[in-house]
Amino acid sequence: MASTPPTPSEPVAEASIRIDSHLDGSAERSLADDVLDGLTRPFKELPPKHFYDARGAELFDRICELPEYYPTRAERAILEEQAAAIAELTGAVELVELGSGTAAKTRVLLDALHSAGTLRRYVPVDVTESMVRDSAEELASEYPGLSVHGVIGDFERHLDLVPEACGPRIVAFLGGTIGNFPPGSRRRFLRKIARLLGPEDHLLMGTDLVKDPRVLEAAYDDAQGVTAEFNRNVLRVLNRELQADFDPDDFDHVALFDPENEWIEMRLRARREHTTLVRDLNLPVHFDVGEELRTEISAKFTPERLEGDLSAAGLELVSWLTDRDALFALTLSRTSTG
Ligand code: SAH
Ligand code: TRP
Repeated sequence: MASTPPTPSEPVAEASIRIDSHLDGSAERSLADDVLDGLTRPFKELPPKHFYDARGAELFDRICELPEYYPTRAERAILEEQAAAIAELTGAVELVELGSGTAAKTRVLLDALHSAGTLRRYVPVDVTESMVRDSAEELASEYPGLSVHGVIGDFERHLDLVPEACGPRIVAFLGGTIGNFPPGSRRRFLRKIARLLGPEDHLLMGTDLVKDPRVLEAAYDDAQGVTAEFNRNVLRVLNRELQADFDPDDFDHVALFDPENEWIEMRLRARREHTTLVRDLNLPVHFDVGEELRTEISAKFTPERLEGDLSAAGLELVSWLTDRDALFALTLSRTSTG
């Protein structure tokens, strides 16, 4: 039998990696601005994105494994149960992930999109360069044919640098990171995310839910002290990046649930009166004994609060997915029409 000539085949999807970095020097500038702003206020404060240098990222990974830190396990359980349905409902060909970190849970979603046969591109966005680069390499080799377009940048400043959609997309914002924004900026940020969504696209967001304060406080103050170390790590970042002379041992880790605002507040409390010099800014910073520096809030949600925030941002809820114990919620939403 004569062999048939090879027919022009479908182009074989080539795995490809592209990484854009938008940080060049601006990360240091933003750290300097945040320190100058935050440490000269009557109530000292630092924004949480500066936790995640390489050591911070490693400590965060350890937090996710702690018995007290339920959010990661609960969110993973929801994903495992619902990923196939999410893939079907969205028909997504691409996944854009904000604050992607090590993309550990992301694989559950990528697996589902891959099995559905739609997956083409993954776009991780994170401030931590090593995490974007490493996860891009790993995922491109784990999923044959997947394009990875990593964006190293600040999701508060660089969302407009996320590439154009190449088909129906899911924008994922997992881990309850949305809770780290105070209410006003949370809605403003959701509005910016909404601008990444076309009529066929969905936001998939993880939010931690309001529950017994003891459970919440334990999740942010574990018995092994990993979270305390993570919290103090921000001082090491300041020492290294801005030539400050903080002694992390001068501070206690504090995690408190504020029942009025329904958020956890993370603080560092000075054990003694002292003055630190932030050399690069020529800025002396005085701490009274017991004075607190707020390093993070982590808002906890009710369905009503979440719907209010979504609708204020021009988004509407499509599905509300929760774990067996209703600890955590994963929601799908889309831009509201009309
Ligand atoms: N999505 C992962 C990681 C959550 S930790 C999970 O669910 O486990 C928060 C992640 O967001 C970290 O990887 C941190 O580097 C990143 N991040 C925090 N602030 C950011 C910012 N302003 N811009 C971009 N990434 C940020
Ligand atoms: N987004 C996570 C959360 O709010 C980050 C986090 C977990 C965190 N533990 C922390 C941030 C301790 C600062 C300190 O749950």
